[in-house]
Amino acid sequence: MDFINIAKSRSSVRDYNNKKVEPEKLEKILEAAHVAPTAANLQPVHLIVVQSEEGLAKIGKAANIYGTSLAIIVCADHDKAWVRPFDGKQTGDIDASILTDHMMLQATELGLGTVWVCYFKPDVLRKEFTLPDNLEPINILVIGYSDEEPADRNRFEAQRIAMSELVSYENL
Ligand SMILES: Cc1cc2nc3c(=O)[nH]c(=O)nc-3n(C[C@H](O)[C@H](O)[C@H](O)COP(=O)(O)O)c2cc1C
Repeated sequence: MDFINIAKSRSSVRDYNNKKVEPEKLEKILEAAHVAPTAANLQPVHLIVVQSEEGLAKIGKAANIYGTSLAIIVCADHDKAWVRPFDGKQTGDIDASILTDHMMLQATELGLGTVWVCYFKPDVLRKEFTLPDNLEPINILVIGYSDEEPADRNRFEAQRIAMSELVSYENL
């Protein structure tokens, strides 16, 4: 499948069956994260792969992970992230999100469902996974085999803003 078709075939899945993600698929998903770009190649990121019942229960205290059996907590390392000198903007969140997107689309290509989760209690995640102060949980990527009907691949015209609203050329 070419890239735009993979992107169009992805949708947020919030109902999973109990088939486990195969280790070789997980490996490919993690490889997609590994090759992702980060600002100045500083790689201020850490992934916590959670598959055990105990670990999933710990995430479940902080977020709805929709009954999946695989979730990846994507953390930014604020001690390592690049900082733009002109205004002090730090790119840790951006870097973490690029990895998340790479993994999400790789999972799609492998026939897996995903949903990107930011609605979580960071303090609870921090406590449950004993995260040090420099590591901030930015995203949780929920991955698994979908129990939903595939989303309509032509849904974007209705579900996204118009291209003319999204894009302007040369000036705002
Ligand atoms: C940064 C970000 C945070 C999100 N957080 C959540 C979340 O906490 N829970 C959830 O169910 N979906 C979450 N989503 C999924 C979006 O709601 C979803 O991508 C959006 O509605 C578009 O639908 P689609 O993914 O099916 O195309 C998040 C998506 C993004 C990109």
